[in-house]
Amino acid sequence: MKPEVLVTRKILERPLNLLKEKAEVTVHLEDRAMTPEEIVAQLPAKIALLSMGGDPISAKILESGKSLKIVANYAVGFNNIDLGTATCLQIAVTNTPDVLTDTTADLTLALILGVARRIAECDRFVRAGRWKEWKPALLLGSDVHGKTLGIIGLGRIGSAVAQRALGFNMKVLYTDVRPADRSMEERCRAKFVSWEELLTESDFVTLHVPLTPETTHLIGQEELRMMKRSAFLINASRGPVVEEKALVEALRSGIIAGAGLDVFEDEPRVNPELLHLENILLLPHIGSATFETREKMGLVAVNNILAVLRGEIPPNILNPEIYRK
Ligand code: DGY
Repeated sequence: MKPEVLVTRKILERPLNLLKEKAEVTVHLEDRAMTPEEIVAQLPAKIALLSMGGDPISAKILESGKSLKIVANYAVGFNNIDLGTATCLQIAVTNTPDVLTDTTADLTLALILGVARRIAECDRFVRAGRWKEWKPALLLGSDVHGKTLGIIGLGRIGSAVAQRALGFNMKVLYTDVRPADRSMEERCRAKFVSWEELLTESDFVTLHVPLTPETTHLIGQEELRMMKRSAFLINASRGPVVEEKALVEALRSGIIAGAGLDVFEDEPRVNPELLHLENILLLPHIGSATFETREKMGLVAVNNILAVLRGEIPPNILNPEIYRK
């Protein structure tokens, strides 16, 4: 009999078929996320769980997985999983790094360009039939080329954003828990600066940090007030890194010029006040949403599961301590 695997949402065909070759797969086919109760009900006989980044994989869920050996998250972020409990229960947890780096960095540039050049607003303007003539001051935006980009977190995605910014002749500043190594700084032509300098000097501040207790509300009222009035805030990391209430206030009162958001504090609920603002570009968490990348993410998640089924340590293990004797 093949080992049983639960997949909480329909993934692309190629990875799913690969998994089906080696396992008895139950896929939640409805067009909505599984509830925690549904996952608990399905889990007892499953060896592996392929979860989405939005599925809260709590201690209760993990404890219900009596045969569970791995939770393979279909995301690079893993703040949705109680990693401590998984480790105590000797359940491997994996993510999908690297394959989505460039796609998410591309999207970050789209947010920067989109909000600076008011792309969504222009599209709404044309569709509404409001475009009557060309005029010198119609829908003026801000230049991106030559401006200063401040990157918070020069990791995989942050550094890929920095490299793209060079093509726009931007000056790149970054801050992080510690400076990157010199070769990385040279590749990105990025300068390590203090938190204060980054916020006060940047024309675009972009967030590329994981969500942890330390990064929750990293950007709040005080930080927004330190930014230039002409600056834009970009977030394609995790919503709770920004205190949304403070952001609404800053956008409404002109403390900053605008924001580009792919993520929200309480997804998929979007603060209704954000919906009424023009100086903001709102996207539905599509950082990694291209066919190619979502297929690769599926293959990475499935390969982590297959490794566990073969009795091997999965390549993208997040809690390797479970394999130490
Ligand atoms: C990720 O991979 O972390 C994306 O944000 C999807 O959740």
